[in-house]
Amino acid sequence: MSDQKTFYVTTPIYYPSNKLHIGHVYTTVAADAIARYKRLRGYDVMYLTGTDEHGQKIQKRAEEEGKTPQAFVDEIVVGIKDLWKKLDISYDDYIRTTEDRHKKVVQKIFQQFVDQGDIYLGEYEGWYCLPDEAFFSDRQVKDGKCPDCGRPVQKLKEKSYFFRMSKYADRLIQYYEDHPEFVEPVSRKNEMLQNFLKTEGGLEDLSISRNTFDWGIPVPNDPEHVVYVWLDALTNYLSAIGYGSDDAELQAKYEKYWPANVQIIGKDIVRFHIIYWPIFLMALGLPLPKKVFGHGFLLVNGDKMSKSLGNVIDPVPLVDHFGLDTVRYFMLREVPFGEDGTFTPSSFLERSNADLANDLGNLLHRTLTMVEKYFDGKVPAIVPNATPHDEALKALVAEKVARVEATMERLQFSHALTAIWEIIRAGNRYIEQTTPWNLAKNEADRDTLGSVMANLLENLRIVSILIQPFLTRTPQKMWAQLGISEGEATAWDSIHQYGAYLEGIQTKKGTPIFPRLDLEKEREVIDQIMINTSKKHAAPEAPKKEQKPQEEKAKVEENNYIDIEQFSKVDLRVAEILEVDKVKGADRLLKLQLDLGDERRQVVSGITEYYQPDELVGQKVIMVANLKPVTLRKERSEGMILAAKEGDRLVLSTVSADIPNGTRVK
Ligand code: MSP
Repeated sequence: MSDQKTFYVTTPIYYPSNKLHIGHVYTTVAADAIARYKRLRGYDVMYLTGTDEHGQKIQKRAEEEGKTPQAFVDEIVVGIKDLWKKLDISYDDYIRTTEDRHKKVVQKIFQQFVDQGDIYLGEYEGWYCLPDEAFFSDRQVKDGKCPDCGRPVQKLKEKSYFFRMSKYADRLIQYYEDHPEFVEPVSRKNEMLQNFLKTEGGLEDLSISRNTFDWGIPVPNDPEHVVYVWLDALTNYLSAIGYGSDDAELQAKYEKYWPANVQIIGKDIVRFHIIYWPIFLMALGLPLPKKVFGHGFLLVNGDKMSKSLGNVIDPVPLVDHFGLDTVRYFMLREVPFGEDGTFTPSSFLERSNADLANDLGNLLHRTLTMVEKYFDGKVPAIVPNATPHDEALKALVAEKVARVEATMERLQFSHALTAIWEIIRAGNRYIEQTTPWNLAKNEADRDTLGSVMANLLENLRIVSILIQPFLTRTPQKMWAQLGISEGEATAWDSIHQYGAYLEGIQTKKGTPIFPRLDLEKEREVIDQIMINTSKKHAAPEAPKKEQKPQEEKAKVEENNYIDIEQFSKVDLRVAEILEVDKVKGADRLLKLQLDLGDERRQVVSGITEYYQPDELVGQKVIMVANLKPVTLRKERSEGMILAAKEGDRLVLSTVSADIPNGTRVK
């Protein structure tokens, strides 16, 4: 048997009731990133996704379309598989709940529950949310609306089999206590404990069959009932890897991969995955998945996507127009995994311009332009410590690589990308610090110039390796320009051998890998995508009660705008930091001396926690030059420098190329 470590990751299996939108893409891209990362780290990965094809909702949708449920889902599944192809989703298996390999296992499990006395026949009387395929009691339903999604529920009264959830509730609570890593983020678990497990009556038994329609897996020995779609669906995680099969090879596959390392789901279906699913597994005597990660939602303009708000986004035209990597980058960078995050046309376009075109695209292009100009495109040798900035650059790269590895273990994709972008920005900063154009003037500095180029190329090579879990097209484009082919020089471990792969290689500068986008024009493209998607999205969705009408939102946005005249009153200038001192008696404050071209200014700034004084000297920053002067701790402050702040990070706004001090920023 191979001793290669395994990694089993799953997404929810999606309802093929409609085309999928960027919310579904979000989960699938996240799971893809961790699957790719683990493969790069040498794991034998099993990445599973699929479709949840039974149930009343699908049957109803098929009837509306005048198709049999099977024909209806078959068509949608073709579209979903095409979508995953378009998005470079590297799944290893795709499970459909209408496949025989799955149906057999569901029936077997159901029968085992019956034999064990976990199931009894009764009558369900209560509420049902069709879009969520979920049961609710009188206590949970308010004003006839589903407590989860806010859409209207329907009354049900039908014969039904029930699963004795109550029998396992205490074991589950104990399991949570013994395995704090089981559910992430922790808040999701606390919510479930409070709302379902530690309520007055305790956990209610769950209805696990339906008998008023027939699109489902027949209950063994009682074909009047079909298995409840959630028991059917959850079983996919086992059936896909061969659990319950008589085939020895499939059994071995199950042994190899179960328990799953991580099951990635959205916060909307946490209850099913951290209450019912573990209880079913306990009843089967199987180990529980090591982790269930319930991520937040991708919102659009701050709202949940819905047809009635006209904000649903079809990923296909988005990828067609902006390119796959821009879409994948945005999703994984913009939204801290676990929390909700918002897609807005401007945040999407700005990420593309600032991070992809400016930071990464520019570093590659300007470096290769210089290597071509000064060395005919051939990579020179690294000279240790050729400039006073080399050690700091190398140390920063090592520190950020370690951070990428640590954050990926915790599925913190946005943090990993932030660390990678710090390497890229350090590369751009290194160009400003070493001023290669000045080194090129002196033949005596030729080796130093060569070493600066080689360090920059090495920085780019490392970046091209680190971005592979997230961006699937850019690494190859970078390798083509850097003159390296996939192999040793692109392997993950090569990152730790700084400078070992590039010397003497012929680079091939190409066109910039990310175009700069025209914000105005591209915003219209995104608006149009939303309009077209909303028109096409067939399933009606009721607006949530707290959602505001469009006009009201528009008014709020209007009030947040400033006009061009107001903006032009702000005098923004490029300023170079000449000297930096601590302010006496104030740990948090630094005193900066700035060169504004024809004058010098002193600015007091609270950036001590984020920058060392000598990191700041020589940087060209953006300054608000006409801010009313103030005195802070007896020091005069004559303006303000701009910086971006995110959580516990702060990054100075600098200029991307050399430009005279005092230049107006517009
Ligand atoms: N079929 C069930 C899942 C069964 S798993 C055994 C289902 N399907 S679904 O098609 O409705 O997909 C729900 C999942 O899609 C969410 O849990 C989440 O992973 C993803 N998302 C749908 N909309 C989303 C956002 N707006 N944002 C992020 N993810 C969201 O529920």
